[in-house]
Amino acid sequence: MEPHKILLPDTDIPEHWYNIIPDLPRAPDPYLGPDGHPIPPAAMEAIFPPEIVRQEMSDQRWVPIPEPVRQALALWRPTPLFRARNLEAALETPAKIYFKHEGVSPAGSHKPNSAVAQAYYNREAGIRRLTTETGAGQWGSSLSLAGQLFGLAVRVYMVRVSYQQKPFRRSMMETWGGEVIPSPSELTAAGRQALAETPDTDGSLGLAISEAVEEAAGRSDTNYALGSVLNHVLLHQTVIGQEARRQLEIAGDYPDVVIAPCGGGSNVGGMCFPFLNDKLAGTSVRLVAVEPTSCPTLTRGAYAYDYGDVAGLTPMIKMYTLGHDFMPPGIHAGGLRYHGDSTLVSLLHHEGLLDAVAVEQLPTFEAGVLFARTQGIIPAPESAHAVRTAIDEAVLAREEDKQRTILFTLSGHGHFDMAAYDRYLAGELDNDYHDGSQLKASLARLPQVT
Ligand SMILES: Cc1ncc(COP(=O)(O)O)c(C=O)c1O
Repeated sequence: MEPHKILLPDTDIPEHWYNIIPDLPRAPDPYLGPDGHPIPPAAMEAIFPPEIVRQEMSDQRWVPIPEPVRQALALWRPTPLFRARNLEAALETPAKIYFKHEGVSPAGSHKPNSAVAQAYYNREAGIRRLTTETGAGQWGSSLSLAGQLFGLAVRVYMVRVSYQQKPFRRSMMETWGGEVIPSPSELTAAGRQALAETPDTDGSLGLAISEAVEEAAGRSDTNYALGSVLNHVLLHQTVIGQEARRQLEIAGDYPDVVIAPCGGGSNVGGMCFPFLNDKLAGTSVRLVAVEPTSCPTLTRGAYAYDYGDVAGLTPMIKMYTLGHDFMPPGIHAGGLRYHGDSTLVSLLHHEGLLDAVAVEQLPTFEAGVLFARTQGIIPAPESAHAVRTAIDEAVLAREEDKQRTILFTLSGHGHFDMAAYDRYLAGELDNDYHDGSQLKASLARLPQVT
């Protein structure tokens, strides 16, 4: 039988994370404080443990993964690499389609890869509590689990529209000992202000971040953990691409194109950076980040300094941004409803080393359903964005009658997203375009940096 999946033993869990910073075509732009100057590491230590701050700014190419973190990763890693033979047959494509299935983690996505590392470093620094935000619920679940594994209490500010759409994500976080608060909430100044302005707001990731950061900054026993965007999170996710590279080697293959869905950029970084290392060394491989047309950060945003949150509590980050107070429509891919993007992903896109495409909600769900009906796995709506683009690449290969090897991250399963699939199957979903005038207005409110 032709193999459908390539599995690795526990001993093949990578021993190092790959840090792309020393291999970038130029140094990343520093994070800036309110005075417009680069923020010193000590300022970041108000909410992050010292080792995380060191990783954020490190130019060490290979960072050792501590053994307790590898042990935690071994609960679900290495994840399988699948060859999507049934999908290939349905598309009648000459292309080979591979996907890395990150949905096999306990939380159902790639997010625990960084959550266990962050919980470990916080515990080592003597921290007792973590706050965080969650959009789709994937990151909040992951940190709740990681908190449980490393003995930390976790409070999760969950974007209100997701809280309403996904009650069982909340149950999952609570099962792992997390406390879940719908955001905006009355617990923080940022939340109270948002509620006063728009009582029936959907909330946003940027707003939930404000609440979580505000609380962590105000308590010495509490730190903040972010599930995407920052360099250390992308670093922790590079186990994905390293394993995939090894698995393709076993299959005797190498990708022409690597595709990943993009919210804040953590699975893009995790999957693409190890291949980018090859690309910078001269190998020809195309890297593609996929985002929703309703939150088109890389494809329609400005490359500028902006805050990572609505209230402007975070440092200013050079990134593609839609404006920190841009409120994306309440699409079902909650994890992609973020106004900005990782500074590393943004830099690589700006330098022409990473492509970006935006896809609409309906074709995304159409791709998710085709994937479910051929490969059996129901993708998270975020992941279905990558499925859509992989299918488009495979169809193009058929039309051009060209062999092509496609690799994508199936960043999560959609078992908690069935209400969204229900709506799609009932014909109740639309494409949820964003309002162009809102984008223009939010871009006009970018902070002025000289
Ligand atoms: C399943 C899944 N995929 C992708 C994303 C996007 O996040 P990132 O861009 O950090 O990978 C999320 C975010 O919550 C997610 O839950």
